[in-house]
Amino acid sequence: MTHAYGEPSYWDQRYQSDPGTFDWYQKYPSLAPLFDRYLLRHHRLLLVGCGNSALGESMVDDGYQDVVNIDISSVVIEAMQMKHMDKQGLKYINMDVRDMSLFQSSSFDAVIDKGTLDSLMCGHDAMQNATKMLLEVDRVLKDKGVYILITYGGPSYRLYMLRSIQRWAINLHVIDRVEKSPGPKTWTLTNPVPLNTDGSSIATLLGSNPEVHYIYVCTKLESQRPPQNETDDVTAEQ
Ligand SMILES: C[S@@+](CC[C@H](N)C(=O)[O-])C[C@H]1O[C@@H](n2cnc3c(N)ncnc32)[C@H](O)[C@@H]1O
Repeated sequence: MTHAYGEPSYWDQRYQSDPGTFDWYQKYPSLAPLFDRYLLRHHRLLLVGCGNSALGESMVDDGYQDVVNIDISSVVIEAMQMKHMDKQGLKYINMDVRDMSLFQSSSFDAVIDKGTLDSLMCGHDAMQNATKMLLEVDRVLKDKGVYILITYGGPSYRLYMLRSIQRWAINLHVIDRVEKSPGPKTWTLTNPVPLNTDGSSIATLLGSNPEVHYIYVCTKLESQRPPQNETDDVTAEQ
């Protein structure tokens, strides 16, 4: 990814000039078996940095009942709102993942991120923005909720960041990059791969330059804190 991927103006321009559906990294059918392991159809789901991906639509078509999508680009959100205005269970909201104050704390069972943390990591103040994002993701997740991060970033680039959120227990899964033809594998998508402290165990399993995407599933451990008073969540079902 280039530096521009971290700038909101880049995304507005891109979605203005190229409005067609586009999925980064992976499409729903290849991810569905993994989602089945962690998600239930009635779960309240938040897709952060949805862009014009078909992921949310495909999930609703496959029975997920409550899928909220956000993106910082008003251009893509308006287009997706128009496209899916009649689709029950699918919402699109223009919002910055670093400030999701319109959502109550502990209000989602899962947050799904396909390429959005990656794009923040390309911009200015990358670490600061990534930290803001992860703290917000942690805040909106219910206890035992999961943050599913689909990324090109291997453990040496992503683990330390995810581990900074101390209440997360992390499973790592891997999936072939779509363009790569399937071959013999040392792993199965739905089983977590062994993960040691510094993440170096992944190289033993996959070799040094594996043609995979990484999927970190971070489960929020139960909190000891009492729930705080919140303002109304604009998207909560009545
Ligand atoms: C690499 S694209 C991934 C799009 C989509 N998730 C997919 O898988 O095809 C990154 C997306 O993150 C969005 N984005 C970037 N910064 C954001 C932010 N601070 N808050 C919300 N969305 C953001 C961009 O507008 C873009 O749609």
